[in-house]
This record gives sequence, C-alpha cells and structure tokens, in this order.
Amino acid sequence: MANINCVGILTSGGDAPGMNAAIRAVTRSAIYNGLEVKGIYRGYKGLITGEVVPFKTNNVSNIIQQGGTILKTARCDEFKEPDGRQTAFETMKREGIDALVVIGGDGSLTGARLFAQEYDVPIVGLPGTIDNDLYGTDTTIGYDTALNTIMEAVDKIRDTATSHERLFFIEVMGHDAGFLALNGAIAVGAEAAIIPEISTEVDQLEELIKNGFRKSKNSSIVLVAESEVTGGAMGMADRVKKEYPNYDVRVTILGHIQRGGSPTAHDRILACRMGAAAIDALLEDQRNVMIGIQNDTIVYVPFSKAIKMDKPINRDLLNILRILSI
Ligand code: F6P
Repeated sequence: MANINCVGILTSGGDAPGMNAAIRAVTRSAIYNGLEVKGIYRGYKGLITGEVVPFKTNNVSNIIQQGGTILKTARCDEFKEPDGRQTAFETMKREGIDALVVIGGDGSLTGARLFAQEYDVPIVGLPGTIDNDLYGTDTTIGYDTALNTIMEAVDKIRDTATSHERLFFIEVMGHDAGFLALNGAIAVGAEAAIIPEISTEVDQLEELIKNGFRKSKNSSIVLVAESEVTGGAMGMADRVKKEYPNYDVRVTILGHIQRGGSPTAHDRILACRMGAAAIDALLEDQRNVMIGIQNDTIVYVPFSKAIKMDKPINRDLLNILRILSI
C-alpha cells in the first residue's frame, strides 16, 4: 500500500470532452478511499504559480455532462525548463501533495514522465485528447465525442456537396495522426480519407483520381487529416485546382468545434472508469503509468511506451472505406 495522503489533479494541453468526467471520477474515488484531493488550475502553469484549491465531492458536482475542463488548461513552456519543474515541486511540497493525476495528451504525459524521473513523484496519467494518438489504449477520452461532432458537421456539408455537385476537402484535427479522419470518413460515408500514416507510402490524391473516385457520383467528400505530411485540405484543394481544373472544389476546416461539446456516453464511461483506475493504481503503488483500456480491460501503460510508441491505425479500415465508396 502506497504512502499517499493527498492527490493533486490537473488537466493539460488541448481540452477534450470528458475531461470533467475524469476530474469528477478521480476526485470522488480518491475521497472514497480516504484521500485528500487538490485541484490544480491551468495545468503545469498552476503547479508553478501555486493555483491550488482543496477539492471536496461538491467541487465536482454537475460537471459530468460539461465539455472543456473546470480546472482550465494550458500548454506550459516554463515546465519544459528545469527551473519551472523545481518550482512546481516546491508547490507540491508546500501544499502537501504526495501524488499527481495528469489528464492530457502526449505533450502533457511527456512532461509528467520527466518530472517523475527528476523528483521521484508518483504520477498516473489519463489519456485526455481528441487525437486518439496515445499507444496502449483503444481510445482516449474525448475522441468519441470529437468523432461524433465531425460526423454531424460533415452530414450537413454533404447537403451542399450533393446539391452543387462539388468535391469537398474537409480538414479534421488529429495532430499527426489519422484516427479522426479515417474513422470519421467511414462514419459519414466519405469517398476517401487522406491520412499522414499513408502519405509517405502512396500519393493518395493520385490514387483517388486513378481509381475514378467520382465515376458513379456527382459529389464527393474527402476527409483530410491536418498535418504537414498531408498538406491539409488547402494543400489538397490547391493541387486539384492545378492538376484537375474541371473539378468544382471547396474546402472546410472544422477547427476547434471538434474539441467542444458535451461528452458522449462512451467518453463519460471511459473517463469514469479511467479516473477510478488512476486512484487504484496510485494506491497499488503504481507510478509513471498511463491508464489505458484494451479490449474492455484496464491496463497500466508505462509513460515511456504511451508517448514514444506510434499507435498503429487499423489498415482494414482503409480497405473498408475503399470498398464502400465505389
Ligand atoms: O491535441 C489536440 C489538438 O486539438 C490537435 O488535434 C491540434 O493539432 C491541436 O490540439 C491544436 O492546438 P491549439 O488549440 O493549441 O491550437
């Protein structure tokens, strides 16, 4: 049994729907197990500046359905410097915080890993990002909600694409990963997805044209993952305008709409299970691991693997997309 009395929670990096459900789950599971809880505002920034507030069960009432994060979030450059981490550790000592739960994406868990190595602090991470790009968990908190938001938005764009007989390139987020683009494309019945994982292997635009992706249709939707590698939706549209000027092309960049909104049931349940598992892990003396769920089972994934290993896309999905878009 670990020697922990007080757990600090923070959210860091891009917000993701379900972060509040995770904050609630961590807080209530900790209190249920007799631990004190402190909420740290604005991610690592708040750990450096000492924005720390004691949390009781009612601090997390009525938040499970809310998007964003009640703890606020930030991308913190100071924490990348040794001085920043030293100040953060002093805040922990002053506030009596013995362990941390960090909810965020790969940048946030990279910071957690470094901090844990330098100061011997027990830290458990929860994968909170719409990008779904953390190795060791089937899905991340926020991914399912973002996918549903993409689906609703693209369904609307389809009306215009069909009415005007246009080709639409729709850019979705994902950092450098194509999970949102690929699964979004399947969910909306798109003609194709352009994703960074495939960009180095084939010219995806050439493939699309070669396969006659508009043969049997008079409108087309192509989801493009944001990334330097794909060139984004604008890059694709510029190429089509130059190389295939007979197409009537339009671009929509969905942007931050994808990060907002009330979490889906899937994300709420994921966050509840992972939040409770984070406290179990700390009590079992686990440290420097991310909580994952694989095949419906909770797993502890060392930070080194979660952030360093590339999560593979399921290539069968590319084939399904190709078959169903004839
Ligand atoms: O990691 C989440 C994410 O939304 C990425 O998909 C995107 O590339 C990035 O954050 C955008 O970050 P910001 O909101 O800081 O511009």
